[in-house]
Amino acid sequence: MKIIITGGAGFIGSHLAEKLLAEGHNVLVIDNYQTSRRDNLKLHKNLKIVEGTIADKQLVNQIFDSFVPDIVVHAAASYKDPNNWEEDAYTNVLGTIHIATAAKRLEVKRIIYFQTALCYGLKPIEQPITLTHPICSSGSSYAISKTAGEQYIELTGMDFISFRLANAYGPRNLSGPLPTFFHRLTSGKPCFVMDTRRDFIFVDDLVEVVLKAVHGQGQKGYYHISSGADYSIKELFDETLSALNIKLEKEVEVRPRNPDDVFTILIDPKKTEKDFNWKVKTPLKVGVSRAIEWYKTHGITQTYTHLKPVEAK
Ligand SMILES: NC(=O)c1ccc[n+]([C@@H]2O[C@H](COP(=O)([O-])OP(=O)(O)OC[C@H]3O[C@@H](n4cnc5c(N)ncnc54)[C@H](O)[C@@H]3O)[C@@H](O)[C@H]2O)c1
Repeated sequence: MKIIITGGAGFIGSHLAEKLLAEGHNVLVIDNYQTSRRDNLKLHKNLKIVEGTIADKQLVNQIFDSFVPDIVVHAAASYKDPNNWEEDAYTNVLGTIHIATAAKRLEVKRIIYFQTALCYGLKPIEQPITLTHPICSSGSSYAISKTAGEQYIELTGMDFISFRLANAYGPRNLSGPLPTFFHRLTSGKPCFVMDTRRDFIFVDDLVEVVLKAVHGQGQKGYYHISSGADYSIKELFDETLSALNIKLEKEVEVRPRNPDDVFTILIDPKKTEKDFNWKVKTPLKVGVSRAIEWYKTHGITQTYTHLKPVEAK
């Protein structure tokens, strides 16, 4: 098959690209390297990388017309500056419109999207959150623009799957708490943890479902990719200490969460487990040590977050 992966040089996109190339498919990646590293993807005879933005309609149409994809996996997203609403809108709304309309025009078989669980708002009315929970994306520019993108994809009428994710982690992940903990702990800087809980999903487990969706499994619509369990950020921190073999003299400081943050995100994976005959395999301890191994080998020069900075104490 021929598969376009937008944001394919990023964390999730590059893991998926590797798996698809290993299966013998042709992959075209479009990425502007806003939040990814150039060494995430190795040269491969069946891989074409286009450096550019999906906000550029002409470029998007040109790559779709010349590559003629069977499937599109739309993983590109803007989130690194919570105050840059324009960039979020260019990439997550306008860029998604360009991708979705080009895919429709070329009669692509399926478009796969990744939505943030923040679409359920900062005060979800149930835990675990089910797929019937009302959408309430007003808490951040990232959630607003990602939700608009998801809705435009549905509006095309095409076959689509939108995977709603909580917190993916693993090698190459540069957002969220884990890379920050690694960076600070290995440079002797003090750490704190927020009093929040998250539903962590290891990237290999996540990509396993996405591959099944690329191969046609699953019904048009929405799915959660989740471990089905939430962990406190403190537990993640303690696993990081253990993977780094570090013993702190005193317990890490636990801070109250930001106003734009949510206490726990636990999304219900039952429909995904059933339709994709899938279950999470990687325990947190194993996933954290795999991520830490990658950080040790590759280093971290930058980390990213959609959250506003925490006020200094
Ligand atoms: N990682 C998570 O926990 C998580 C949770 C919920 C949703 N998601 C979604 O999953 C997808 C993949 O995220 P990720 O975790 O791999 O993050 P990532 O930052 O590694 O990947 C996003 C990629 O998009 C690229 N990009 C940004 N703007 C672009 C533009 N205008 N044109 C082309 N490329 C552009 C970035 O350079 C990066 O390579 C995103 O859509 C994100 O919103 C991720």
